[in-house]
Amino acid sequence: MDHTGHEVKFLLNEHQIPHAWYNIVSDAPYALTPALHPGTKQPAGPEDFAPLFPMELIRQEVSSERWIEIPEPVRDAYRLYRPTPLYRARRLERHLDTPAHIYYKYEGVSPAGSHKPNTAIAQAYYNKAEGIRRLATETGAGQWGSSLAMACALFGLECTVYMVRVSYEQKPYRRSLMHTYGAEVLASPSDRTQSGRGIREQNPESPGSLGIAISEAVEDAATHDDTHYSLGSVLNHVLLHQTVIGLEARQQMEMAGEYPDVVLGCVGGGSNFAGLAYPFLHDKLHGRTGLDVVAVEPSACPTLTRGAYRYDFGDTVGLTPLVHMYTLGHTFVPASIHAGGLRYHGDAPTLSALVDHDMIRALAYPQIPVFEAAVAFARTEGIVPAPESAHAIKAAIDMAVECKESGEHRTILFNLSGHGHFDLGAYDAYFAGRLENFDLPEEAIAAAMDQLPEVALTS
Ligand SMILES: Cc1ncc(COP(=O)(O)O)c(C=O)c1O
Repeated sequence: MDHTGHEVKFLLNEHQIPHAWYNIVSDAPYALTPALHPGTKQPAGPEDFAPLFPMELIRQEVSSERWIEIPEPVRDAYRLYRPTPLYRARRLERHLDTPAHIYYKYEGVSPAGSHKPNTAIAQAYYNKAEGIRRLATETGAGQWGSSLAMACALFGLECTVYMVRVSYEQKPYRRSLMHTYGAEVLASPSDRTQSGRGIREQNPESPGSLGIAISEAVEDAATHDDTHYSLGSVLNHVLLHQTVIGLEARQQMEMAGEYPDVVLGCVGGGSNFAGLAYPFLHDKLHGRTGLDVVAVEPSACPTLTRGAYRYDFGDTVGLTPLVHMYTLGHTFVPASIHAGGLRYHGDAPTLSALVDHDMIRALAYPQIPVFEAAVAFARTEGIVPAPESAHAIKAAIDMAVECKESGEHRTILFNLSGHGHFDLGAYDAYFAGRLENFDLPEEAIAAAMDQLPEVALTS
């Protein structure tokens, strides 16, 4: 194969969609810490999760098998948009005048516009197979809600989406998209649940947060027998489903005749990052020491860079099991940055453990330089990125500029997790100079940390 050509896109055919998801737990240099029951604070068993999730997903959640087969109906739905393209960002490289090679895996080609359908489709499938009628969920940016709404339409399920109020107001067309797929969409905190009503009583102006919306969706599912809950990030099974991204990217990097020195992704709960990075981390865990794996987060919600590695609730009210993760405290309500999908107080347990073991490092950026990077990317590569994904672009650009200064030839691979076609209001705000960087004072973090539950560590 000619590796000196000018290819911009590296494309796979449908037969090359992976047949199994990669489970990093099988290779991790640490034991999986158990989730704890929110009341007893003892390790939670499958029966504790049964009101919320189908058994197959509970099994995947605790599995340590390396490969988990993708059911054929799920692969068949993946064919609607997978395999996704891998691009070499040649125009961005020329613009930056860098010796670095920059690649990006583009998940924005899915019907919902991001990586989120990779797990939404799998979750809808397993719930339908278990006879569930409706799924309840939360959404921040609207990407997850749109993805689950689409997946429910594909598998004949009803869908209720609790959408963080600030996003509900910022992104009316995400709502329209969810309605088009047939979902019901409520601004969270809503008056539909006890959790939502409680928060509105305390703060009628609450902008909402992912933690609050999760409380509402979990309560909805727990109080209706025919309804399950569905989560778009954080949990092991969600990250597992996302590994189709990295498994494809490995094949595509091989087509390009390169192996990355750096793998990058933005982190909200960790699913798109893990999806790209875990299949490469497999190599690092097996001795490829040079690989730099970098998680990028907003400095307004710096869970990995300023949070504590502790047991905490996944939601604000304290209804979910406690998981061992980097957290800013479950009561932390991040500033209303436009990367709504990154406004989450915690991180996936597997990602947190890998950060704790120095297998992954983390960086944080304020939103104005992130938008600057997004615009540079749009004007060179043509794709208007989601504000979440633009965090990874910012880090990739900074690294490529460092390469220019040092003369180093690095190969940088990042995940472009979604497009920003529903985020143009945020771009307008950026161009009008209306964005704020939101410095986060240490006292705000300390105050939220005070609310962390007391748990005796089991490991
Ligand atoms: C485009 C996009 N990227 C990233 C994220 C962050 O989520 P995660 O960390 O689970 O990938 C979101 C969440 O909504 C998103 O919509």
